[in-house]
Amino acid sequence: DADRIPVICIDGPTASGKGTVAAAVARALGYHFLDSGALYRITALAATRAGLEISPDNEPRIAELARQLPVRFAGDRIWLGEEDVTDAIRTEQAGMNASRVSALPAVRGALVALQHGFRRLPGLVADGRDMGTVIFPQAPLKVFLTASAACRAERRYKQLISKGISANIADLRADLEARDARDANRSASPLKPAQDALVLDNSEHTIDEAVMQVIDWWQARQPFGA
Ligand code: DC
Repeated sequence: DADRIPVICIDGPTASGKGTVAAAVARALGYHFLDSGALYRITALAATRAGLEISPDNEPRIAELARQLPVRFAGDRIWLGEEDVTDAIRTEQAGMNASRVSALPAVRGALVALQHGFRRLPGLVADGRDMGTVIFPQAPLKVFLTASAACRAERRYKQLISKGISANIADLRADLEARDARDANRSASPLKPAQDALVLDNSEHTIDEAVMQVIDWWQARQPFGA
């Protein structure tokens, strides 16, 4: 019974560090890891490749693509059919397209079963926007990881520079605030903390501290210790 398999949800806005924190928690606990944002990024890429403009007019066709998405997670690489799309889905443009595709309710619905399929023993850490509110509402631990816009823009800036990609902090901050606004204001599964989520503000913590906090919370919930 899948309901018995533990799930830790880590939701929050873009560039809050939740991807890094969620992956590290999964590694520490030996759990599976779901990067749900990657599914929206890949769907947007698949739509673009199919020549479909990302707009409500194409919602049924993009949802159909999402339902049959030939996606494969292999170690730290992500494949769409025969193509390694790991790098292609991480650009700012890909993030913006993902945000637009994720506002289409039929697309969100088409990706539900795929996301539920990641819930396997011994457990799952799920990273996204609606893991605790919509996809795994019964999860025993939900964390909402935030950070100030300034802090997130700086984090994204450093990531890009370290990859040799030139960037501008003010532009990055404007982009992520635009994306937050879209993700938080859409009617389908908007970005917001679940009622029973524990909020962690990453502006005041290092990634390692955030990882330890989540693991502490998790262990506090294990009746016999983990
Ligand atoms: O976490 P990310 O930056 O890879 O997510 C890309 C976009 O996908 C994000 O702007 C909103 C959307 N998304 C979503 O709507 N629901 C999720 N569970 C994860 C991501």
